[in-house]
Amino acid sequence: MNKKDFFKKFLTSVLDSSIFVAVYLKHRMTKMISGFSKLTKEEKINWLAENYFKNNSNAVRTIKQYWHEDKKLQQLHDDFIENTISNFYLPLGVAPNFLINGKEYAIPMVTEESSVVAAASLVAKFWSTKGGFRTTILGTTKVGHVHFMFAGASAALEAYFINNKARLLAATKSITKNMEKRGGGILDIDLVDKTDKLANYYQLHITFETMDSMGANFINSCLEAIAAEFRNDEIEIVMSILSNYVPECLVRAEVSCNILDLGVENPQKFAEKFYQAVKIAEIEPYRAVTHNKGIMNGVDAVVLATGNDFRAVEAGVHAYAGISGNYTSLSHCTIDNGVFRFWLDLPLALGTVGGITALHPLAKLSLEMLQQPSAKELMQIIATAGLAQNFAAIRALTTIGIQHGHMKMHLHNILNQLGATVHEKEKITHFFEGQTVSHAAVVLKFKEINKR
Ligand code: MEV
Repeated sequence: MNKKDFFKKFLTSVLDSSIFVAVYLKHRMTKMISGFSKLTKEEKINWLAENYFKNNSNAVRTIKQYWHEDKKLQQLHDDFIENTISNFYLPLGVAPNFLINGKEYAIPMVTEESSVVAAASLVAKFWSTKGGFRTTILGTTKVGHVHFMFAGASAALEAYFINNKARLLAATKSITKNMEKRGGGILDIDLVDKTDKLANYYQLHITFETMDSMGANFINSCLEAIAAEFRNDEIEIVMSILSNYVPECLVRAEVSCNILDLGVENPQKFAEKFYQAVKIAEIEPYRAVTHNKGIMNGVDAVVLATGNDFRAVEAGVHAYAGISGNYTSLSHCTIDNGVFRFWLDLPLALGTVGGITALHPLAKLSLEMLQQPSAKELMQIIATAGLAQNFAAIRALTTIGIQHGHMKMHLHNILNQLGATVHEKEKITHFFEGQTVSHAAVVLKFKEINKR
């Protein structure tokens, strides 16, 4: 076979196989649909039932069971996102008895993890008798960037930036007008040369004060207006977007007391073990991640309850935990002259006005429960919830272990899974009062009761 024939044969077989793959996929992909978003809610559910719930005759009933009977309220929730078919419930709990900077709070928490609210409540009460939590706002600056490429001389770019900086700010005036009335706005614009990391890459690093709003839309609108004004034949804008990394939007929450006031059996030993546990999280990333996850159990629950963006908070917090180059603990502990001190610094970009905080009835109610906090106050409350959760976890881990409390709370979930009646639940809960709870032990007890 000569070269030409070989290539012809090769091409034909590739073509044949890709046609074969296309035909094969067309037959296999029977569940692909276009125009799904245009279907009514009922039609969407029917389509799902036909394609994904063939073996589940309860699926449609389950989906509809969670619809709200108040049609207006349901419509409100439907409109939060696209393609809504139902509501996904999570419990909204309350952890009372928090004393923060001398003010009392009952903190709303949305979480599915059974021990979180109980732990927060216990720790709130514990510290309320020792002066409570103290918090400090260390900064409220948020950041956004116009990322762009420029292949010319950096001195020329610098000159262009300096000559046009006032024009860039002026381009945002219609957007910043209201924010400025509230005391916020654009703080500054800097040109940053990043060409040592990526050829031709520069950015406008823009800082913002967004007062009581989280400010994502405000920041992104400003950035796009600035980018439109900044671009020229030599400047290629790649993208304009806020950063969820907010190390200058920072809050500290802390507790301290004399070791002897810790109110445990051997306070010196307790404080030392607690200190060691925090030190381990400071130097060991495997432990730091779990330690910080415990903090986020408290943080996320309040972020969710108040209608804030938990993905943004999670991303920003974990990036901050790696600010030194090594992922480390977000909380710290000292024992000095008989005084135990435990604190936490958290970057939190939050809002108490606008977005879902103004739309979701339960987010509004949560903010009312918190006595209509400013964004700064909410930062302090949420950092406190994180510190309380961390204290509860370390206290349990370094004393009785975590499973004792976890499994006690989990007992209710296991009993629900087993379909236990109220009477059975009471009986089994009573039985496990002085016993270690395990899934197997609960199942055994449940079966034993049902045999009789
Ligand atoms: C569980 O959700 C959280 C903990 O693992 C946190 C920790 O280990 O510090 C208990």
